[in-house]
Amino acid sequence: MIFRRLALFPITVTAFSATVMTKKPTGTSFLPEETIARAKTGSPIEKIKLEKDGSAAWVDVYEYARKIREGEMTWEEVEKADLDTRLKYVGMLHRNKRTPGQFMMRLKVPNGIVNSDQMRFYASCVEKYENGCVDITTRQNIQLRGVRLEHADAIIEGLHARNQTSFQSALDSVRNVVGSPLAGIDDQELVDTRALCNAINDLISLDPVTQTRGNPAYANLPRKFNIAISGSRDDYAHTHINDIGLVPVPHAQSGVMGFNVVLGGYMSIKRVAESVDANMWIPADRNSVVTLCEAVLRLFRDESDRKDRQKARLLWLVEKYGVAEFKEAVAKEVQSYQRGVTIEDAQPLPTTPFQRRELLGVHPQPQEGKMRVGILVPVGRLSATECRQLADLADQYSGGEIRLTVEQNVILPNVDATQIDALLQEPALQDDSRFRVNPGLIEGNVVSCTGAEFCGLALIETKANAVAMGQELEKLVKVDRPIRIHWTGCPNSCAQVQVADIGIMGAPARKEIDGKKVAVPGCKIFVGGRIGEDAHLAIDPVQEAVPLEDLIPELVKILKSEFGAVDV
Ligand SMILES: *[C@@H]1O[C@H](CO)[C@@H](O)[C@H](O)[C@H]1NC(C)=O
Ligand code: SF4
Repeated sequence: MIFRRLALFPITVTAFSATVMTKKPTGTSFLPEETIARAKTGSPIEKIKLEKDGSAAWVDVYEYARKIREGEMTWEEVEKADLDTRLKYVGMLHRNKRTPGQFMMRLKVPNGIVNSDQMRFYASCVEKYENGCVDITTRQNIQLRGVRLEHADAIIEGLHARNQTSFQSALDSVRNVVGSPLAGIDDQELVDTRALCNAINDLISLDPVTQTRGNPAYANLPRKFNIAISGSRDDYAHTHINDIGLVPVPHAQSGVMGFNVVLGGYMSIKRVAESVDANMWIPADRNSVVTLCEAVLRLFRDESDRKDRQKARLLWLVEKYGVAEFKEAVAKEVQSYQRGVTIEDAQPLPTTPFQRRELLGVHPQPQEGKMRVGILVPVGRLSATECRQLADLADQYSGGEIRLTVEQNVILPNVDATQIDALLQEPALQDDSRFRVNPGLIEGNVVSCTGAEFCGLALIETKANAVAMGQELEKLVKVDRPIRIHWTGCPNSCAQVQVADIGIMGAPARKEIDGKKVAVPGCKIFVGGRIGEDAHLAIDPVQEAVPLEDLIPELVKILKSEFGAVDV
């Protein structure tokens, strides 16, 4: 890819006029003729991308923001394809249905590590909007809610000044790179994922020529793409539901630490699939990891479906090749880069017993006298005030550092053991606050997507229901281990109901009221998803069309029959 990219410049410099010379490459410039031909007859989104490249948004967003601010135009006058589609290339998703004129702004937080200054900046970004708030997502990421286009440039500048970006975080982009939330503070760690996540984030969103944010090489992918790097046997990163999952394991002969590669896991309306074992192993160094991702992304970008967006995910391409043939194609691609990277066969995973560890609560670190403290943030929702409270706690106790988890919670790392009592007595962690260090085993493990409050696709309200029902269940039953209840508003399954112990997915339901059947908010229930080494997706619902108002008794039944719950 790099070669193709460089080749572009000599041609433009010698053969074209000065105006063409200064023209930057777009996402489409990287596509082979054959791919462009398929895109031309492809899905409506492909046509929008060809008409004007998504990378144009990296410049346009500044123009639009300025013009709206200066009264030259209104947001309604922004070209529709820019407003609702191309602005996603700067991470701005127009919430047209629920909050017209307002955007969700999705960041990139490689490995889920933020600092207190960034947290305070998020607070300052959203507090000017009545409904503004910040969400921690199931990709260890941050989403700012309520954003208006006239403020977008200032937010982007603020992020870039703070070592973050929102570029290439939505639509057909590589999503936030997920790593281990315990990287560097874990006595069971196999690989420290931090530098690797950052390197992949840079591969995707840093222009290798100008060293500015926005990399056109990945600005016209066929579809979204997820990468997760696990750092320990816990698989906190959920490798099995990502397009590329790296599973840490040493090489059996040499003992060199590396990763088995699993490919193609994803969830969508039409299909939910666990990753397949790609029978590849690479060493856990930066060069190998970046090169492997680059090779898979090149094949994905140029060869995946451009017509049917349901079939444009990586797994379909792997299946089209066959797993062994896809491995060969990746190996050949990697070889063509001539970076000394070789792909070996997958290495045997350990068979000794392993207990997946908890992230909430106070736990020792391998560093003498240091503790990590996992704090529940109910369904990942943070007000501006709460962002500042977290920032203050981090400054006081964890060197300003805050880790985000895919369970939408936070971890304060490196807290002095001598400071734990003081931390636990902080007003922000007491009963009248939403934060909890030792929540109940049900309420502490609730995960939820955005739902009807902001998301136009939602069939039900999720976050408020998820929190309320989690608390209600705590009053009704007792369990002896964490029970993970996930809520998702529609079949897109952003909250990954298929990995949950109990998954609630918004769905139509009917109920008899005054002798008449009427439509009411309802759900499907999934049971038995597993995470960690023994991961398993619960693909089929066990119940459908359950009215939400009847859900609590159903959940109590399931908790008792499947999870050993007893009455309080
Ligand atoms: C953040 O800093 C790291 C380390 O200097 C750098 O590699 C990376 O490119 C920066 N990321 C962003 C988004 O600025
Ligand atoms: S699962 Fe559906 S409702 Fe929930 S955030 Fe995703 S698209 Fe929206």
